[in-house]
Amino acid sequence: MCGIVAAVADGNIVPLLIEGLTRLEYRGYDSAGLALRDDTSGKLTRFRSIGRVADLAEQSKNHTATSSIAHTRWATHGAPSERNAHPHMSGGIAVVHNGIIENYVALREMLRAQGYVFSSDTDTEVIVHLIVHLAKTTPDLFTAVAQTCKQLEGIYAIAVIREGDNCVVVSRHGAPLLLGLGEHGNYAASDASALLSVTRKIVYLEEGDVAEISLAGIRAVDAGDTPLKIGIDRPIHISTLSAAEVEKGDYAHFMQKEIFEQPEVLAATLEMIGGAQSLSPNIFGASAPEVFADVNAVLILACGTSFHSGLVARYWIEQLAGIPCTVEIASEYRYRVSVPNPRQLVVAISQSGETADTLASIKFAKSLGMGKTLALCNAPESAIVRECALRFLTRAGKEIGVASTKAFTTQLAALFLLAITLGKIGGRVSAKDEAEYLKDLRHLPLAVQKVLALEPAIKIWAQRFADKHHALFLGRGLHYPIALEGALKLKEISYIHAEGYPAGELKHGPLALVDENMPVISIAPNDALLSKLKSNLEEVASRSGELYVFADADSAIIESARVHVLRLPEHYGLLSPVLHVVALQLFSYHVALVKGTDIDKPRNLAKSVTVE
Ligand code: M6R
Repeated sequence: MCGIVAAVADGNIVPLLIEGLTRLEYRGYDSAGLALRDDTSGKLTRFRSIGRVADLAEQSKNHTATSSIAHTRWATHGAPSERNAHPHMSGGIAVVHNGIIENYVALREMLRAQGYVFSSDTDTEVIVHLIVHLAKTTPDLFTAVAQTCKQLEGIYAIAVIREGDNCVVVSRHGAPLLLGLGEHGNYAASDASALLSVTRKIVYLEEGDVAEISLAGIRAVDAGDTPLKIGIDRPIHISTLSAAEVEKGDYAHFMQKEIFEQPEVLAATLEMIGGAQSLSPNIFGASAPEVFADVNAVLILACGTSFHSGLVARYWIEQLAGIPCTVEIASEYRYRVSVPNPRQLVVAISQSGETADTLASIKFAKSLGMGKTLALCNAPESAIVRECALRFLTRAGKEIGVASTKAFTTQLAALFLLAITLGKIGGRVSAKDEAEYLKDLRHLPLAVQKVLALEPAIKIWAQRFADKHHALFLGRGLHYPIALEGALKLKEISYIHAEGYPAGELKHGPLALVDENMPVISIAPNDALLSKLKSNLEEVASRSGELYVFADADSAIIESARVHVLRLPEHYGLLSPVLHVVALQLFSYHVALVKGTDIDKPRNLAKSVTVE
């Protein structure tokens, strides 16, 4: 989604802004822009581009400035075009904005009636005209921005600059924004990675905070206009993000790097189990033992790939803990009438911790009286983590490729720990079983490593596959969600239309699609459902369908001209989905590579979906 970088420093900050925007490219964008304040004249110069950040760098390369704001835009209101790109300007003020202003139509009418002329199709433009309007009767930009924010409904993170003022004013509500405190200046950004080259000292702004950044320091108030002491009311965090995490190294794409990091990040996520034979519920938070003891059901809320990890967890939780588990797409749950159960553990799963629908769904569950909330997240200080009573932080590290890979498998590892913990508390997982499950988890990184070694064979499949236009993914039981995830990965980065189905559903509809042009990818672990699955595969083969089967070493599926089989090194019981999904990630990656798509930044998609 959109990204913001803003800076006030004692030297030229244009290269920093360009670098910061480049680091935010992974979030997804379709245009970019910046407003520089000329140090001598105090005037603002704006550059906008519907190309990549590199175009903006080219446009602005002969300019210098010590205070400025910059933006990458992911279009919501108004097509991707130069006139809709940020910053938006009016009366010597420039604004960049992440989010959506829901009452922009009413504000636009009010401002038009006052004589303001709109030059874009965006919701954002009302912000700049409103600041200009209010600045006529307020002592400074800071106050005008604070007053403007009180009239905005919806989601925003904004940065504002004015001709003649040597400061930047920022505010946030619903969208992330943080401050960076540096030796040579002060900064703001929507993501700490944008500021990595100048500071690790980060201050997270809270809902409704307004802050003025200048060389002299930070002046800030909260949503109720109470002055804030930075470092006390808003603590300073030292970011542990490493430069290597945001660079590709020897890999061709972030997605490939992130796929290959999985053994390491799984080991990091599972580090706390060490050599233990038994788990403490405290790994989910200090009050987890008490909260879990009273839980009689689980509700998982998530979107996209995180939703798929929730679907796998449902099988684990119901089998190991014997309590009902429901998994809902967050954007659906938040708007439907449901039956609240205050004893239900509500689990929000999110890589970014910023997904607007997941955040809103947790708030909605709480408003229905469900206070037993757990965030399972990869971003420690994110809004979703802060919203929940309990937390488990996966240690996937920064995930830059839009297609989620290592975040998914680390979520699965964490959810397996949750299932064991709930099973133990409910008396269904014995000490012996628990020790076995922990042993399996400890071996998981090595098992994944062996799957990664299949890359050369997967590449050959990918070459055969790249001219296809459609694909069906089939799985059963625990591997049905993996079929959904395999299909999502393929469509996301290769733009091949793909659908995931539980194999038993085939003859209830999708079998009608099967012919020689509809390849069927099947996940065939050697589990209790294998014989059923084989019958489903026969149904495909006898209709001239071409099968690509990801089987376990001992699945005994026979190859033929139209049945291709790739054997994973070992069958891994309940944790088998973690291995099979890695093979599917590699498959999608290599299909996309052959097709030549923009793998890390697929068209129309954003890494963090901070709007509805
Ligand atoms: O950050 P989140 O885990 O909340 O994101 C949820 C989805 O937007 C995300 O998983 C999306 O589906 C990915 N692009 C899938 O690869």
